[in-house]
Amino acid sequence: MAPTATVDREDAESSVVTPLCRVESQPLFVEDGEADGPVNLGGDLDLKAANRNEAARFAGELAELADAVSSDADRQFLTRLRRTVTSDGLNLPPMPQTVIRVQRLIDSPNANFKDLASEIELDPALTTKMVGIANSPFYQGMDPARSVQDAIVRVGLRETRNIIMAIVFRSKLFRVPGYDKQVQELWVHSMAASITSQQIAGEIGGDPDSAFLGGLTHDLGRVIIFSIAGEIGRETRGRLRPDPGLLRDLLERFHSLLGSIAAGSWRFAPDLVAAIGCHHCPEETPASAAELASVLCAGDRLARWIVADKGEELPSDEEWVALTSPICLDPDLKEQVIEEIRAAYRKLEGTLTA
Ligand SMILES: [Fe+2]
Repeated sequence: MAPTATVDREDAESSVVTPLCRVESQPLFVEDGEADGPVNLGGDLDLKAANRNEAARFAGELAELADAVSSDADRQFLTRLRRTVTSDGLNLPPMPQTVIRVQRLIDSPNANFKDLASEIELDPALTTKMVGIANSPFYQGMDPARSVQDAIVRVGLRETRNIIMAIVFRSKLFRVPGYDKQVQELWVHSMAASITSQQIAGEIGGDPDSAFLGGLTHDLGRVIIFSIAGEIGRETRGRLRPDPGLLRDLLERFHSLLGSIAAGSWRFAPDLVAAIGCHHCPEETPASAAELASVLCAGDRLARWIVADKGEELPSDEEWVALTSPICLDPDLKEQVIEEIRAAYRKLEGTLTA
């Protein structure tokens, strides 16, 4: 398990330039330049070999479907979706720069609490949420946290970074007018999956940070598909909406591929891109990403229990073994791991899923 950063609170509060105790983990992003404007999934598409054939197959299938459907809405939807993986695709929002800058600060040997707090304070909404979380019943100490710096010290570096990612992704990416309810449900599931995956990765000596980001974004392909459907609805003032059955079918079949394409465009680390693409088929993942893909697969499934049951019935022993044997998680740890996951989820649930 990657070591968790520990922070001495008194130290941090006594000096505004206390260096950060670095969080050691795998790089989450590839540092090879970043897009300033919207990421064009077609033009900027950096399809890795593993995705290229899949994308071509996907585009071919969509073209055939577009020829076969009779409604304008379905045809437009399929055509637009096909263009996302061919030449002039959908413009996704750029990777939120706050996330990149916070990650760089945490990775930097010269960074300190003041720099990190200043970065977060650039965004008033982020500031309010961070301080609010630090003062929530799960984190609160003797004295209330009054500043972002207090909040970072109380919550810890790793959690600060994860919370920032969650808040920023929620506000910038998980918003699709016209499909608000579906995307809200997806958000709640993604939050639960990020926490579940992080806990499982920690348990098996994997990388909890990649698991957290992977869990948060594993179903982002679904958001992209909803965005395309929503765009058509908005452009036609609600006149055209793709058939719900067709939408459901495409969501199920292609969200992993689209999610991995988006993750690649946002310069996620290659293993993370591969694991997102294979979170429903970890056995097909390249060796270097196989463990992470299995963690995301288990995290995805377990998240459904966590959110749906909240302390009710546990998965059966049989279900638990099927879920955890690919990642060699001791079956005897079932109740302990589930309890830890629930505790971690409860910490953030109220603030991040509202
Ligand atoms: Fe999925």
